[in-house]
Amino acid sequence: MSNQSSGGQPPTGADHFSRSGFIFAAIGSAVGLGNMWKFPYITGKYGGAAFFLLFVIFLVLVGLPVLLAEMTIGRGGRGSAYTSFRNLSKVKVWGTFGFLAILGAFMILSFYGVVAGWTLHYAFLSFTGSLFSSSDYGGTFASFSGSYVPVFWLLVVMVLTGWVVARGISGGIEKFNKILIPALLVILLVLMGRALTLPGAMEGVRFFLKPDFSKLTAESALVALGHAFFSLSLGMGTMLTYGAYVDRRQSLGGAAAAIGLGDLFYALLAGMIIFPTSAAFALKADQGPSLIFVVLPAAFGAMPYGTFFGGLFFVLLAIAALTSAVSLLEVPVIYAMEKWKLARTKAAWGTAALIFLVGIPSALSVGGPLSRFTLGGKTYFDLLDFAASNVLLPVGGLVVTLFTGYAWKKAGEEAGLTGPLYRIWLFVLRYVAPVMILLIFLYSLGLFG
Ligand code: PFF
Repeated sequence: MSNQSSGGQPPTGADHFSRSGFIFAAIGSAVGLGNMWKFPYITGKYGGAAFFLLFVIFLVLVGLPVLLAEMTIGRGGRGSAYTSFRNLSKVKVWGTFGFLAILGAFMILSFYGVVAGWTLHYAFLSFTGSLFSSSDYGGTFASFSGSYVPVFWLLVVMVLTGWVVARGISGGIEKFNKILIPALLVILLVLMGRALTLPGAMEGVRFFLKPDFSKLTAESALVALGHAFFSLSLGMGTMLTYGAYVDRRQSLGGAAAAIGLGDLFYALLAGMIIFPTSAAFALKADQGPSLIFVVLPAAFGAMPYGTFFGGLFFVLLAIAALTSAVSLLEVPVIYAMEKWKLARTKAAWGTAALIFLVGIPSALSVGGPLSRFTLGGKTYFDLLDFAASNVLLPVGGLVVTLFTGYAWKKAGEEAGLTGPLYRIWLFVLRYVAPVMILLIFLYSLGLFG
């Protein structure tokens, strides 16, 4: 295996994505807890359909061009987020920025894996019925997250993702996503059928789909923009890394459009489950992060066959989370393979083990034994989330736009864009996206009060 294989060959030689395999894997990365957990509650909080509309606009106008740019760097550079930049430019600092993205993916996975573990635990509780043995769902969540049990589930998550990544691109990541992404769709449709036939469900649909523009503020716009980035997995090197395994002949523009559509579609379906379900049981859908672990179990507990539907719902979340986790793990794994000339299996298991260790304090700091240790009011979990999502992610996004917009002159050629489409793309990368990203960044640092 060579680590400087720019031009033509994927970084691990023969192992690469098939056309559809790449789309499935990228949709698997994009569709995650962001769609199923964060999207519904921020939509509830920031204006329902009006917010959704903004999200769609930002996703198409800013998200897709940046997504295309990220995949283009990977396919052009044929390496990790570090090596791809180094292969495409002599200026070393781009590589340093690429390295930051690798660090970011590592950090995100260490707490994203914790939440993924919660969903597995809840699937288990739900199928066995013990979730519904008491109606104090807030208490159930608090006693679970306050115990050592989340560490066990983090371990399960890291073993699963490590196993998939160790099996490689076509035999591991591609296969995993090709099975689970269609399965996710089936589960979403079953749950949507259940949700929409609940008495009173239509009120939730109305809330989700009827725009209330009076709730739109500058803040909701920034949240929508930030979420468009997070939802498309941008700025963390995941799409770049997947891009490195794509065939030269595949159209990246077409792929970006398919991934964006897929991401939107799954978010829409998730909304069509969560809002009707909450409305049918007169539960509020804007209650922040606790929505899916505290509010929705109450709904499942009260509906016929709730044990089954509740279990299915948490399996859905777990699948969405795991396919994203796999993409995050691949980012540092390919770097370790290049840097230390490790075999994929060793790199995958070693990195997964490290992330597990780094994630343990996160697993113990949401109401757990470590939640007393805070810095500036933030627990270890919050700090990692903040550093990765609010600092490294925007920086990563900015680097991608500036690199393709200004530094790498052959980006358009690699992306397969010509004529007006190319000019629009370049315009967005040069002027629109950097300003937008800077705004999200300043907002998330609290600079707008
Ligand atoms: N896009 C994922 C979600 O919506 O849950 C989260 C994510 C995955 C963000 C990978 C960033 C990333 F690199």
